[in-house]
Amino acid sequence: MKKLLITGSSGFLGWNLCQIAKQKWQVYGTHFTHRVEITGVKQLRSDLTDFQELQRLFQEIKPDAVIHTAAQSQPNYCQTHPQESRAINVTASCNIAGLCAYYSIPCAFTSTDLVFDGLNAPYRETDPVSPVSLYGEQKVLAEQGMLERYPLTAVCRMPLMFGFGAPAAKSFIQPMLRSLREGQELALFVDEFRTPVSGNTAARGLLLALENVQGRIHLGGKSSIGAICISQGIQLLD
Ligand SMILES: NC(=O)c1ccc[n+]([C@@H]2O[C@H](COP(=O)([O-])OP(=O)(O)OC[C@H]3O[C@@H](n4cnc5c(N)ncnc54)[C@H](OP(=O)(O)O)[C@@H]3O)[C@@H](O)[C@H]2O)c1
Repeated sequence: MKKLLITGSSGFLGWNLCQIAKQKWQVYGTHFTHRVEITGVKQLRSDLTDFQELQRLFQEIKPDAVIHTAAQSQPNYCQTHPQESRAINVTASCNIAGLCAYYSIPCAFTSTDLVFDGLNAPYRETDPVSPVSLYGEQKVLAEQGMLERYPLTAVCRMPLMFGFGAPAAKSFIQPMLRSLREGQELALFVDEFRTPVSGNTAARGLLLALENVQGRIHLGGKSSIGAICISQGIQLLD
């Protein structure tokens, strides 16, 4: 079996990806502050912002391909911690692309639909970016930096994702369901439309992109859904 390195396997998407990828690959996952056990997946702790540690990771595993999902994925946190979040979202991502170029192995990166401001949806991959948050800006910088270092990178712009994940990493849906079960009122956007997919579907899309895409691709869900649908109890299934 070929070896696949998945960064961020303790995160929501990385955990989902490990479950699917291990059927075809020998998977190595990385965590940082939350150790996870995933049957059939070798786990390593790594601070990806430490370049020497990152180099050692590549030297030890000798991966045949890399999917980079690790990130500071909370836009609000990025806004208040610009330097810390830039180190993982931008610098580490560019370094990973550089190492994939050095070893000539496929690389997929998880960017976001938040590279756009949403005023001119739907968007094509060729449309100019227009981030309105630091998180979105950092992802734009990562996309550009990674493609400069390694034009063969599959830059996958992910939509909002939902479903089950690692113990420490939940999607937005769990707190929402808990509040609904407790009879609490939810404060939701009414002017936001997203194209969500499940973590499972997103993982399958990423694995396809890893082997078939070079450059940017939008991995959105089939339909555009407004938050109002969720508050009315409509199931989000893709
Ligand atoms: N979730 C969404 O709806 C969504 C939508 C669009 C795009 N995305 C993008 O998709 C990717 C996955 O998102 P997610 O929701 O799975 O994120 P997540 O649950 O927040 O997981 C983030 C992962 O990154 C790891 N990490 C953070 N800082 C690190 C560091 N310095 N060194 C090594 N690892 C570090 C975390 O490790 P520890 O927990 O062990 O510290 C965790 O495994 C991200 O790139 C995100 O920006 C997500």
